[in-house]
Amino acid sequence: MDYREAQEYERGYLLDLYAPIRMPMVIVRGEGATLWDSEGKQYLDFVSGGRAVTGVGHCHPRVTAAIREQAGKLLHVSNDFYTEPQLLLARRLSELFSGRCFFCNSGAEANEAAIKLARKYGYKTAGEHKHEIVSALKSFHGRTLASLAATGQPKYHEGFRPLPEGFVHVPFNDVAALREAVGENTCAVMLEPILGESGVYPATEEYLKAARELCAKYGAALIFDEVQTGLGRTGKWFAYQHYGVEPDVITLAKGLGGGVPIGAMLAREPVAGAFQPGDHASTFGGSALPAAAALATLEAIEEEGLIENAARVGGLLAERLESLRGRYGLITEVRARGMMIGIDLAKPVALRVKEECLRRGLVIITVGDQMLRLLPPLVLTEEQAEQGLNILEQALGQVDGE
Ligand SMILES: Cc1ncc(COP(=O)(O)O)c(C=O)c1O
Repeated sequence: MDYREAQEYERGYLLDLYAPIRMPMVIVRGEGATLWDSEGKQYLDFVSGGRAVTGVGHCHPRVTAAIREQAGKLLHVSNDFYTEPQLLLARRLSELFSGRCFFCNSGAEANEAAIKLARKYGYKTAGEHKHEIVSALKSFHGRTLASLAATGQPKYHEGFRPLPEGFVHVPFNDVAALREAVGENTCAVMLEPILGESGVYPATEEYLKAARELCAKYGAALIFDEVQTGLGRTGKWFAYQHYGVEPDVITLAKGLGGGVPIGAMLAREPVAGAFQPGDHASTFGGSALPAAAALATLEAIEEEGLIENAARVGGLLAERLESLRGRYGLITEVRARGMMIGIDLAKPVALRVKEECLRRGLVIITVGDQMLRLLPPLVLTEEQAEQGLNILEQALGQVDGE
């Protein structure tokens, strides 16, 4: 199927949601950091499948083998049953975070679970009034109604009101505003340690420390949304580890299944104990197939040193981008944490740069019309990093001269 035909299918059979962001090709195959379209053209994937999912690369051999093996034995039984992949995955994640797990299928669902857990914790410790969730402006927590209410971007709320009540938004990295907002009615502060979708803005240490302190003071849960930042993307297992601030709850999805949909919420005591049987559930959550894929993904990350690679190659990318900034007036700022990079441009030409990259075989994404975003897989080699940046440099040169 070619791009033209794909567009016809989209118009005929899909709800009108993605057309403006679709790239002009049909992807048929992926391996590591490489993608191929239906015309046989090859691309370097600097966005891990588009949105930071395939951190271990496309079709990682370990993940593919685990899926094949599991698919031959058992695809699914619900949480009415025990299955070994789910239990082993829970144990491995608990070793990484020292909390207990709830499994679901996406980032939004993981955040939904965290919100419900925090509400229940507030209810049990103080009563119904303790239900407020404080989150940051410019945050992104998902598209279900509660995760959308937590998302601090009014443009996503438009047309979907009334949203669930009890969500308060404060400017990101503004300690005074956080102190003002958190109080006796707060059951949780929910933050991305590094704002992802709005353009890679890291929290300050002071900010996350203040959030920890306020949550301790008022008996609220500190929730870190690590859906995008977790599982090695920033050069550590979890982004909060850069800060030395320990949350009560983290949420994961994206990179967890190596490309297979699975999400998880991990919670520590005393917050974890607020849920009791029947409070929350998911039919598919932690099913045998995605759990086997996730277990193999975690093994690959650990045994192949992918976190170290993300830190090292991410560092090289950041260095070279900084030197590009020196040479091209078009780049005004580079923000990088491992394999999470935001590039601000001096002019609204982000889409043109993306187009020129694609034409030359590099996939990147944009935020608004003046920012580029790179989310390369953790497996990216130095050589691929160089290759990608050479293409980006050519694209910038082309667009700068127009
Ligand atoms: C930080 C963060 N939280 C939550 C989500 C929502 O995840 P999903 O699209 O899997 O529901 C995203 C998606 O981009 C995200 O970046």
